[in-house]
Amino acid sequence: MKITLKSRGEISLMAEAGRILATAHEEMRKAIRPGISTYELDQIGEKTMRSMGGNPACLGYEGYPAAVCISVNDEVVHGIPKKERILAEGDVVSLDTVVEYQGYHCDSARSYGVGQISPEAERLLRVTKESFFEGLKMCIPGNHIGDISRAVFDCVTRNGYGSVRALTGHGIGTSMHEEPNVPNFPTFFKGPKLKPGMVICIEPMNNLGTYDVNFSDDGWTVTTADGEISAHYENTVLITKNSPVILSRADGIEL
Ligand code: MF3
Ligand code: CO
Repeated sequence: MKITLKSRGEISLMAEAGRILATAHEEMRKAIRPGISTYELDQIGEKTMRSMGGNPACLGYEGYPAAVCISVNDEVVHGIPKKERILAEGDVVSLDTVVEYQGYHCDSARSYGVGQISPEAERLLRVTKESFFEGLKMCIPGNHIGDISRAVFDCVTRNGYGSVRALTGHGIGTSMHEEPNVPNFPTFFKGPKLKPGMVICIEPMNNLGTYDVNFSDDGWTVTTADGEISAHYENTVLITKNSPVILSRADGIEL
């Protein structure tokens, strides 16, 4: 399938999905504390989405068993929420989820510290968010996907971290994954040209150590190859003729 350009009507549905999504993230964020299980966080996320008329698009996607991907410490992405997985002081937790609203999707991820975390973990979280915004600056028509990739990658590597290569960002719309891929590393080809109406998910996944990852036996959880911690930050971004617009947001909720 080729890259789709969204109409105003489609964009407003994606923005509504984004408002629901941001609210679900905010409710989960507020609940994070030592002693809570990743299952409980998932339930909070799912309930919030449903209460606002959204659907948890991850639930049942390719057989995924929950509404939210919750990845702790050395888990990079796609961790499965579990009643037995209890968060502890000092953990880094990444929440990645997708809302579907009237056929349209919005996808975002946030990483947080649980209680007090180490200065090196704080720095990883800060740089991971920063690397998204470096990519966002490249989101103007005429630039290419490769400009985003390079900006993210440069920020991550300049700070000494591993930028995961095994997974990428992506287009989004009536499906949660559409063309084009949005890598977090430079590729030989500069990729498609950005055009107004394109909607993409930019999602740096950054490791304290090596960028190399393993895929675990549960079929989902991706972990760092060296066991070091990882962080993930993602938003759904609309390209316009002027500045890009983050669709995965809500008034009064911090990005
Ligand atoms: N944001 C995640 C991704 O783009 C959502 C995955 S949902 C899952 O990979 F069902 F695949 F887990
Ligand atoms: Co995504």
